[in-house]
Amino acid sequence: MNKFSDDPRFAGIKPFEKKIWLSSPTMHGDEQHWVDDAIQTNWVSTVGANINEVEKQVAERIGVKYAVALSCGTAALHLATKLAGEKLYGQARPNQGTLQGHRVFCSDMTFDASINPVAYEDGEAIFIDTEPDTWNMDPIALRKAFELYPDVRLIIVAHLYGTPGKMEEIRAIADEHHALIVEDAAESLGAKYKLHGEWVETGTLGDYNCISFNGNKIITGSAGGMFLTNSVEDANKVRKWSTQSREAAPWYQHEEIGYNYRMSNIVAGVVRGQLPYIGEHMAQKKAIYERYKAGLADLPVRMNPFDPDKSQPNHWLSCLIIDEDAMAPMVRGEQDYLYKSVSGKSSPQEILDAIFAFNAEGRPIWKPMHMQPIYRTYAFITAEGNGRGRSNAYIAGSGLDVGADIFRRGLCLPSDNKMTPEQQDIIIDIIHRCFH
Ligand SMILES: Cc1ncc(COP(=O)(O)O)c(C=O)c1O
Repeated sequence: MNKFSDDPRFAGIKPFEKKIWLSSPTMHGDEQHWVDDAIQTNWVSTVGANINEVEKQVAERIGVKYAVALSCGTAALHLATKLAGEKLYGQARPNQGTLQGHRVFCSDMTFDASINPVAYEDGEAIFIDTEPDTWNMDPIALRKAFELYPDVRLIIVAHLYGTPGKMEEIRAIADEHHALIVEDAAESLGAKYKLHGEWVETGTLGDYNCISFNGNKIITGSAGGMFLTNSVEDANKVRKWSTQSREAAPWYQHEEIGYNYRMSNIVAGVVRGQLPYIGEHMAQKKAIYERYKAGLADLPVRMNPFDPDKSQPNHWLSCLIIDEDAMAPMVRGEQDYLYKSVSGKSSPQEILDAIFAFNAEGRPIWKPMHMQPIYRTYAFITAEGNGRGRSNAYIAGSGLDVGADIFRRGLCLPSDNKMTPEQQDIIIDIIHRCFH
């Protein structure tokens, strides 16, 4: 038995019989049909009707000319970043990345797959702090970053948890500095953003755009991702690189380094079966977000924010952030943590432990990249300028770090679209009891 079962605050609550997941795949049956079709017709590898069809449907839905189906979102981000590097700095030698000797401005509060491709391509990431309005890249910090590093020509932007970032501002700054944008829409498929008065989908907002069909996303292919573009040259290049960069010779002939990154026709079958359900999944996720918002309204917490005039998130994950004065003491090490229970207050780790004890899955906010051991020595820019080396034993400083603050006070709530309203009410009840 865990400590929560003896805790009088949680008296009467029983663990869920079946685990409530953070965000698990939701199959509908159509997937089986298209997978069977691939097997029966023997088109099981990286060519076939499912691949052609999902590329067509996704391009039409999102509003781009070309979609290239790949093995995962990470592969899409790698090739998008490489393409940007090649455009900016020329073709690299086979043993060198296209970003060698160059810096790239990157979203800081995101999953590491967004920005690891900078390292794959031998570049150096510079992390841009987060703004509190959408929890995405802060345009003010981005502007500061260009003051400090005016030579930078590439920006990688992610839309966290399905909420579009401030792309109008970010695009304007990029244009001023002749910089390109790689857009990571892995978590935001289906979300819309109002760009200069017109609603457009995320996945159209960068110079190179990426989506993911990972198992936890709004729809899944079991795996898979896509590169999205309006440029036929870029689409053809990514298709070539993703299939080992073969030339049109009778034998294996290579002018460029290649990758085995193409989507299989079986995975595409799962994507094809899922595509008709994006709208349904988004409506379920929105209902979950709104139910949490209403159910938690009397607590000293807020939901992950968005600007309804500028964006329609896909509400992939619902999150909360605890008000500063309602934060119970909590410390985190590199792999462990400790907290105290205090009446009227709580902490993300306490809430996550309580949810877990009753057989549901939440998750800490994605730990910002500038705090990750692997990137701790890399530059980090906040709205105040250089975010590194600002502490001083003798002078008190503001130490502004929006990402670290959201990581400290926030958490991702169980957001599975198969969770029933009754189950969600129990989770809301558990969170209330954490504060009592
Ligand atoms: C923001 C973000 N970028 C990239 C990825 C990588 O996508 P994939 O898992 O399809 O490689 C993910 C999640 O998986 C993600 O959440």
